[in-house]
Amino acid sequence: MSRSIIIKKPGGPEVLELTDTKVGSPGPNEIKITNLAIGLNYIDTYHRSGLYSLPMPSGIGLEAAGKIDEVGANVKEFNKGDNVAYASMPIGAYAQQRIIPEKIAVKIPDGINHKVAASLMTKGLTTNYLLSKTYHLKAGETVLFHAAAGGVGQIFAQWANSIGANVIGTVGSDEKIKIAKEHGYKHVINYSKMKFEEEVMKLTNNVGVPAVFDGVGKKTFKGSLACLRPRGMLISFGNASGPLDPVNVPKDIQSKSLFLTRPTIGHYFTNREELQAGADEIFEKVKFGKIKIKIFKEYKLEDAKKAHEDLESRKILGPAILIP
Ligand SMILES: NC(=O)c1ccc[n+]([C@@H]2O[C@H](COP(=O)([O-])OP(=O)(O)OC[C@H]3O[C@@H](n4cnc5c(N)ncnc54)[C@H](OP(=O)(O)O)[C@@H]3O)[C@@H](O)[C@H]2O)c1
Repeated sequence: MSRSIIIKKPGGPEVLELTDTKVGSPGPNEIKITNLAIGLNYIDTYHRSGLYSLPMPSGIGLEAAGKIDEVGANVKEFNKGDNVAYASMPIGAYAQQRIIPEKIAVKIPDGINHKVAASLMTKGLTTNYLLSKTYHLKAGETVLFHAAAGGVGQIFAQWANSIGANVIGTVGSDEKIKIAKEHGYKHVINYSKMKFEEEVMKLTNNVGVPAVFDGVGKKTFKGSLACLRPRGMLISFGNASGPLDPVNVPKDIQSKSLFLTRPTIGHYFTNREELQAGADEIFEKVKFGKIKIKIFKEYKLEDAKKAHEDLESRKILGPAILIP
């Protein structure tokens, strides 16, 4: 049996229920894994609330790191005892033990522990594709990233700095300004107090930035468009403040010949080889000190409700994990 969190209907953090689930044996191309650390991600709240709908009842969580207990038939890349991590569907990472398809797992190299691996698979893979595949960030450029002190935000600026780029960050409180600066943001704007679009235009001599990375969504969308220079790109990769309103293309996009994309991680890492290569780049950066991961908080698995409450009330100041 595995202690797991399930949801029987969408709703607030109170719908997260601890239960015992039977795990069984892995089938062909599957591995059975004991999760030693589980990544807490904002997307988990979308699954829980029903913003991203799931068939019910459902497990929850996409990301964890652990050790393989058993491999099924035809498993080629892994053996019992291997340290692995994953960050994608099928849902159900909030669990002590589970079975996952081999194709979603990556090997964790020596020198990276399970807690760090669980903190940076989703956030690191997201950063990786955002600044190297969605937008090719170059040395000397200055771009804007919203929610700079958050999980993805803390990795993004460090990675951008490692390739010689500068990042302007936004945060929702003065406490978070210091955190964002410590993680490499050159300028940090408290968007709860100031109009970030006006500040960005001042910082760029009224030119605007070539790219805005916007995981906040509803509240920042219009301002993000206003920060872009002609032919700039708005990368709308999340909706922490709510889903976007419909876009008026002639007014919002055509006015500056802008590019707008709404990327998701699964479209950038489409097979196990791409996934392992993407994860290895992140692991290397951590091993060589280019990216430092400071885990903000560890919650017990049974405290998942509290973890979601903290995440949605903007109290989480960096990567957080659940320990089964
Ligand atoms: N598309 C993809 O492939 C992909 C993959 C991973 C993550 N994401 C997205 O990336 C974003 C960041 O994810 P994360 O897990 O690292 O979360 P996070 O940044 O640690 O937390 C979300 C942050 O959003 C900000 N925020 C602004 N308005 C908010 C509101 N009304 N309610 C709650 N938070 C609000 C808060 O920072 P402030 O207080 O500083 O405003 C909060 O800390 C999320 O939108 C997530 O869905 C997308």
